[in-house]
Formats: sequence, C-alpha cells, structure tokens
Amino acid sequence: METTSTTIDRLCDFVGRTVTLQGWVYKTRASGKIAFIVVRDGTGLCQCVLEKSEQTEPFFDDIKKLAQESALTVTGEVTADERAVGGHELKISSAQVVSAAHDYPITPKPHGIEFLMKHRHLWFRSQRQWHILRIRATVVDEIRRFFNDNGYVLIDTPIFAPAAGEGAQTLFQVDYFGDQVYLAQTGQLYVEAGCMAHGKVYCFGPTFRAEKSKTRRHLTEFWMVEPEIAYASLSDIMDVAEDFICSIAQRVLRDHRDALIELGRDVSDLEAIKKPFYRMTYTEVGEILRGPKAKELLENDLKEKTARVAELDTKIGELEAVAKSNEKQWKKDKAAAEAIDCREERSELQEQLGNIPHHMELAANFEWGGDLGGSDETIISRLHDRPVFVTHYPRDCKAFYMREDRENPRVSECFDLLAPQGFGEIIGGSAREEDYDILLSRIKHENLPQEDYEWYLDLRRYGSVPHGGFGLGVERTVAWLCGLKHIRETIPFPRMMGKFYP
Ligand code: 4AD
Ligand code: MG
Repeated sequence: METTSTTIDRLCDFVGRTVTLQGWVYKTRASGKIAFIVVRDGTGLCQCVLEKSEQTEPFFDDIKKLAQESALTVTGEVTADERAVGGHELKISSAQVVSAAHDYPITPKPHGIEFLMKHRHLWFRSQRQWHILRIRATVVDEIRRFFNDNGYVLIDTPIFAPAAGEGAQTLFQVDYFGDQVYLAQTGQLYVEAGCMAHGKVYCFGPTFRAEKSKTRRHLTEFWMVEPEIAYASLSDIMDVAEDFICSIAQRVLRDHRDALIELGRDVSDLEAIKKPFYRMTYTEVGEILRGPKAKELLENDLKEKTARVAELDTKIGELEAVAKSNEKQWKKDKAAAEAIDCREERSELQEQLGNIPHHMELAANFEWGGDLGGSDETIISRLHDRPVFVTHYPRDCKAFYMREDRENPRVSECFDLLAPQGFGEIIGGSAREEDYDILLSRIKHENLPQEDYEWYLDLRRYGSVPHGGFGLGVERTVAWLCGLKHIRETIPFPRMMGKFYP
C-alpha cells in the first residue's frame, strides 16, 4: 500500500488517508486487545491506536511494551477526533521500532528543578518546555521582522571586545593570543558606529555578563537585540520601544494563544499590552516606593504567603502519611511526588517571606541616587497593568555613554522599560552623549582607559549627531510573555553562576 510521510501538525490535510509518522513514544496505555500510544514528532502530539488483529498481531506486543521516548514510525489511517490531543487520531496498521529506550529519566511524575536542569538536554522534549522554546523562536522571528520591515540594517557586532561596554564588574576576561579582551556585554558601541553609516541599524546576538548574583532574572549568557538610530531623541527611541513591544506581544498572542493558556498564562494580561505605556521619572518612582501603595502591597504579600505556607505544611503532612501507609503502591508514589512539589513551593515561599521585610525597608528608605534594585522594580511593575517607562535616572548610577540631560545635568536621558505584573526590566536604553568633551570627561570620571575608546570618540569627532537606542533581553521578554517565575526555562541551555552543564 502506498503511504505518505507527514508530520503531526499537518494531519488535518490527511483525514481519511493513510500516512506515516516518524517520532517518539510520549506515553502509552494498553489493555489486552488495544493499545494507545501518544506519539510526539517534534511538531505535536498524536494519539495512535493499535488494535490487536490478524494484521497487527506480529508486532502488537512489541509496540505495546515500548517505553517512553522509544523512537518509532507508525503508519495508519487518520481520523479527526475533537477529543484527541491535537484533534486527530491515527489507527495503526503497521509500525516499526527505530530504537527502543529504557528507563527514560524524566517520567510524567514531578521532579525537582535540580534534577531537571541536569537533564536539560532531555527535559526540553517535555510539553511545557517545548511550548516555551517555540514561543522563544517566534519572539526571535518577530524581533527580526520588526526591524527588517522598518528600515533597519542588521550590523553584526563582535563578541571579542577590547573594552567594557557596560559596568566593568561584569566582564568575562579572555586571553586573546596574550592580549586581554572581554566577551561582549553589549554590541551597542558598535551599532553606534553603524547608525552613523546607515541611519537605522540593529544587532542581535549573544551577550555575556559575569553576574555574580543568583537571581531569577540573571543569566551569564543571554541574547539581546539592540537597535540604534541616528538623529533620534530619547522620546523617539521610547516610541520605537513601545511599538516594538506591542508587535511582539500581538504576534505571540496570534501564534501561541493555546500554548500560553496551557502554560497557565493569563492571556488577558497580554491583550492589555497597548499604547500608551506609562511614563514616569526615576524621581517619581522614588516617591511611589516610599509611599503607602508600596507598603500595602508588601504587607499583603506577607499575609498571603504566610497563610499559604501554613496550608502547605498541613498538606505535606497528609501526603507523607499516605506515602508511608499501607496503601497501594501507585497511591503512595503519587503522594510522594505531590509532596515533592509542595515542598518545592514551600521552600520558594519561605525564601520570599524571608526577603519581604528587607524589601519593605529598601522601598521605605529609598534614597535618590542609586540604581533601582530588583525588588524596587518588582514593586513598580506589580502596581501597573501595562509596561512602565522609568526615565531620567541619576547620571552616576548609569553607564558612561548616556546623554547628560542639559536641563538637569544630575540625570541622564535614559529609560528602563519594566514589564507589568512584577516581571521587571526587559529593556534598557538611552540617548547617547554626542558631545566630545562631555563624553571624554565621563570616560575619565569612570577611570576607563581612554586609548581603548579612541575609535568610539572618533564618532564624536566626525559628524556627531544626537542618537540613541536600546537593548531588549530575549529571555526576560520570553519569561514575561509566558508568565515564568524564572528565566532559566527560556533559553535552550541556560548559563548561570555555577551552572554550565549540559
Ligand atoms: O540594561 P542593559 O545592561 O543595557 C545595555 O546593555 C545597553 N547597551 C542596551 C542599549 O542601549 N543598546 O541590558 C539590556 C537588557 C536588559 O533590560 C535585560 O532585558 C537584558 O538586557 N539583560 C539581561 N538578561 C538576562 N541576564 C542578564 N544578566 C541580563 N543583563 C541584561
Ligand atoms: Mg539595565
């Protein structure tokens, strides 16, 4: 019989016909005469049904016994079935085992995060991770589309950098044939050169920061897109950032609505991502932090989280009692697995509870001058339902290249864009200092070696114009869009302090 090979995402074109799928066993369920095998093939899931008949008898037992993640091909007739995962079913007429797997380490029961991270190379076959990485791919595609369609020229910037682009304390050093260079923290200084040649440009690639903090927002290797525009003011740049974020949110909603819902994301939060975003200055943010709204927010957290911990304590006690009882083995396993989940949630909550008094103190005693801390950003971001531009930070807490506000030289013409509902900073940007003398004095003030920046100063010697841009972190954006607490699931192989395997 002639059959066609296809993929699960295209089964709708093959209803009533016989096709072959190439994939892996996601899970199986079997009785004496019938086996249900959910196959995944990279494009989706499909329930395949194998009935024991004269024709299938020779391979029925082999297929029925196949363990999770065994590779196989299956041939059969496609039927449409609303209730089936993916909306179709395949009635198997023949099948071939490509390679049998044994004892796949990631089973449907819950595992601790440490274990999953160590098995990241396998973990990302599971449904949640599969959705997240597909959403990431769409975000990356939309980023490129946005800039390519709006007249920006791609300028690829180097990864071996001779000098710091951001703070010197997060540089990774590399021995470069006896010279010391650094892994790029940003492509910005180079796209500044690019925009003087092409007007509107962007770079998009991996960037590196030796972040010594183990937070849910920090990776040591992350992807950043950085547009840069000649003859642009701070407000021009913020307008671009606003349109850019709206187009990413709309595209992800359009292409991944079901996946977002499956991930537990409240899609109405993303539907609300519309212009205009909130705009406020750093000084105004300080007032909010010291005010009653911030205090009330954290006091409520204390109450709610304390109550939840008490609830979990009780639940864990009950589950552990079941796990030790004389119940059936599967019931004991299920209880033990649930207890793992509850303990993980409890330990996260306890850590957060331990931090709340400190965060309250930081907010209440916020002083003009320092950068916003992670907890400060979280507060502001939680108090808003659309993204918030925070502008005009004190000059001394920001990078040397930011333009000094001519009306108030104590602040820079810069912004951070905070995603709403507590996700915090996803973009940092600014107008750049275009004045040669001011820029040079900033380089000296920061004790940066002037000779490493001579080429950058050339941009101010020859045809300097007002210009600016911003950088968006892909992983923080994906975490926000998917509603993930931690950034580690948004990149295929995360690199964090103390973590570089697999
Ligand atoms: O605010 P940052 O440090 O800005 C720059 O690098 C500028 N040169 C950008 C520019 O104006 N062209 O970083 C920009 C964004 C942050 O808002 C955040 O989304 C992400 O990059 N980011 C990180 N993401 C994950 N882990 C880290 N350690 C990150 N550091 C920054
Ligand atoms: Mg920043």
